[in-house]
Amino acid sequence: MSASTAFTAAIVPAAGLGTRFLPTTKAVPKELLPVVDTPGIEYVAAEAAEAGAERLIIVTSPGKDAVAQYFQPRPDLEKTLADRGKAALLEKVRRAPGLLAVETAIQEEALGLGHAVGCAEPNLRPEDEAVAVLLPDDLVLPTGVLARMAEVRAAKGGTVLCAFDIPRAEISAYGVFDVEETGDPDVKKVNGMVEKPPADQAPSTFAAAGRYLLDRAIFDALKRITPGAGGELQLTDAIALLISEGHPVHVVVHRGGRHDLGNPGGFLRAAVDFALDHPEYGPSLQAWLRERIGSQ
Ligand code: UTP
Repeated sequence: MSASTAFTAAIVPAAGLGTRFLPTTKAVPKELLPVVDTPGIEYVAAEAAEAGAERLIIVTSPGKDAVAQYFQPRPDLEKTLADRGKAALLEKVRRAPGLLAVETAIQEEALGLGHAVGCAEPNLRPEDEAVAVLLPDDLVLPTGVLARMAEVRAAKGGTVLCAFDIPRAEISAYGVFDVEETGDPDVKKVNGMVEKPPADQAPSTFAAAGRYLLDRAIFDALKRITPGAGGELQLTDAIALLISEGHPVHVVVHRGGRHDLGNPGGFLRAAVDFALDHPEYGPSLQAWLRERIGSQ
C-alpha cells in the first residue's frame, strides 16, 4: 500500500455540545459557523479529500442533522442559480457535496472524543487498516500534513499524530508529547503524553493538534479504556494504552499555522485572517481595522 493510499476513510467528530459558542449552538452546530462564507467543516473535508480520503464519516448527534445535510446536493438551489447565471455561486454550492462521499455515524450522547471516534467503527470496511481523524475546529495551514503522516506510517507502521512546536511559555495550555528523536527533525517517536503540564515540567514543546492517522487497533483500545478527564472517554488515553503495549506512535511536526475554531476568540481570528485575504472584503476590512484600532 503506497503512502498516498494509506487511508481512504476519514472521521470527523462533530457531535460535541459546542458549549463555548452558546447560546448560538442551541440551534446552530458550531461546525457550520462560517469562516467568512464557508463553514470550517468544509475546509477540513477538503483537506481530507486532498490527502486521498474517499469517504468522510461525520460523527454527529441527534439534533445536529444540519452538519451532514450541508454535504448533500441542492438541485433546486443549483437550478435557480444556473437560471440566473450565477456561475460563481453555483460552484460554491456544489463544492462540498463534490469533495468526497459523506456518511454519518451517530453519537447519542457527548461522552468524549474517544467515544465519538469509536461510534464510527461500524462504518469502516474490512480493508480500512488505518483511518484519519480530523477535528473540524482545528484548521491546520497550509494543508498537506496528512500526506506526510501517511508517509511516516508507511515507513514506521502504527499510528501517526500531528504536533506543533509551541513556545515553552504557552505550552501549559496543550496536550504535550514525550518524544525521542528519529534522525528526521520533523518526525519524533512518542513515548507518552501529558495533558496541560506546567511549563517547567513539560516533557517537550511539541503540542498535539487535531489530526490523527490511527491504526485500526485504536478501536480495540477504545473499548478497554475507562472515562478520564471530565468523565469522558479520551482518545489520548486509548493512544497511551497502545503506546504502553509497544504499538509504534510517531508525530509529524507541522511547521505552519493553525486556527482554533472551537472558541469565539480563535474563531474570530480565523475569520479576520481569511477575510483580510479575501479580494472583496479584505481591503475595506483592513482599512476599518486600522481606524478602529487607531481610535482605541
Ligand atoms: P471539543 O471539546 O472542542 O468540542 O471537541 P465541544 O465539546 O463540542 O465544545 P465545548 O468544549 O463544549 O465548547 C473537539 C471535537 O470533538 C467533537 C466536537 O464536536 C469537536 O468537533 N466531539 C467532542 C464529539 O464529537 N463528541 C464528544 O463527545 C466530544
